[in-house]
Amino acid sequence: MRAMVYRGPYRIRMENKPDPIIEHPRDAIVRVTRSAICGSDLHLYHGLVPDTRVGQTFGHEFTGVVEQVGPEVKNLKPGDNVLVPFNISCGACFFCRKELYGNCHNVNPMASAVGAIYGYSHTAGGYDGGQAEYVRVPMADVGPRKIPDWMNIEDAVLLTDACPTGYQAAEMGDIKENDTVVVFGAGPVGIFAARSAWLMGAGRVIVIDHLDYRLEFIRNWGPAEVYNFSELRDVVQHIKEITDNLGADVCIDAVGAEADGNFMQHLTGVKIPIQAGAPTALNWAIDSVRKGGTISIVGVYGPTFNLVSIGDVLNKGLRINANQASVKRHLPRLIEHIQAGRLSPREIITHRLPLEEVAEGYHIFGSKLENCIKTVLIPGTRKAA
Ligand SMILES: NC(=O)c1ccc[n+]([C@@H]2O[C@H](COP(=O)([O-])OP(=O)(O)OC[C@H]3O[C@@H](n4cnc5c(N)ncnc54)[C@H](O)[C@@H]3O)[C@@H](O)[C@H]2O)c1
Ligand SMILES: [Zn+2]
Ligand SMILES: [Zn+2]
Repeated sequence: MRAMVYRGPYRIRMENKPDPIIEHPRDAIVRVTRSAICGSDLHLYHGLVPDTRVGQTFGHEFTGVVEQVGPEVKNLKPGDNVLVPFNISCGACFFCRKELYGNCHNVNPMASAVGAIYGYSHTAGGYDGGQAEYVRVPMADVGPRKIPDWMNIEDAVLLTDACPTGYQAAEMGDIKENDTVVVFGAGPVGIFAARSAWLMGAGRVIVIDHLDYRLEFIRNWGPAEVYNFSELRDVVQHIKEITDNLGADVCIDAVGAEADGNFMQHLTGVKIPIQAGAPTALNWAIDSVRKGGTISIVGVYGPTFNLVSIGDVLNKGLRINANQASVKRHLPRLIEHIQAGRLSPREIITHRLPLEEVAEGYHIFGSKLENCIKTVLIPGTRKAA
């Protein structure tokens, strides 16, 4: 099959790889119909995630058609159109039983903290991903969900990560009626977090980024009040000023490890890097939320440590909720919102490229060129191996 392959930082190629096969009775083989590139893929692409191995195929956001199922997969059959949540989960462990599918304890022998993610580094299990023609889907009786006939496939692919992750970001903000919510990051995840904040009763939604084209999009689409942090002398001070000097009720970090906005943090978190990512957006969130407020973190940071203002968290009495999204848990509700016309996730897609042009796709999305918000890859007709 044709598949995207990692060759080292900033180097991505299309190569021929052996077709995946059923290795376990709970596996399925899925022929990919759409895959997307995520901000989390950029951390891999930029060489910032430990144990990202040359030869790995990325891609944790994909839809496909079931080609083959193992004997223990009773709920799927060849020909089914499915969307596949980015988490691999067993469905039966302590965490899966609590619907914490992003924290499954049975799928990643490489680590005790992080669960398993398709197409990520070996710290997340080392499973190959969906930026390819075919994928092996382990525990296929748990993750994949049939795409309803009425649903647009582009809405479906955004239900595998970005949309439910933004939704969970808002949920973890524990938003109360009329709350002021600040979302840091106007990427796909931040965009869906801002939109979801309204669904959960926010009275005011503010989005911070430094890319005007993204702020312009969310200003209308959220809608949201937007500020470009590079035009503010002090973003924290500004947020306080526009919230009666109290601070926001809820702040959401939808940026993660590669944040801009603080030279020393960027130098030590991204360029050198001696800490596991630059927690600039997180520190801004901590400083601009009110005392007793809530911080929700979905932006991804690496293992080991970061220079986070933990003393402020204590003195201000903050609550911090953070997690990898448990995609499967949110699907019923989000499908309802889409069917009712309250949400059309595909409206954030700006780029549609053939899978063969995946390297270009990473370059455009990674460097935020051509007003890119979200890139979807379309596998072409099969080439002879
Ligand atoms: N927890 C999860 O389950 C989960 C799932 C998907 C993605 N993520 C993470 O969410 C984050 C966002 O993903 P995405 O796909 O939207 O990525 P993205 O790269 O498209 O968006 C990040 C945005 O943050 C902006 N930004 C940079 N520094 C900032 C700062 N200091 N303040 C405010 N904005 C700033 C960038 O300009 C960009 O628009 C990434 O860290 C990604 O790894 C987490
Ligand atoms: Zn993702
Ligand atoms: Zn589990």
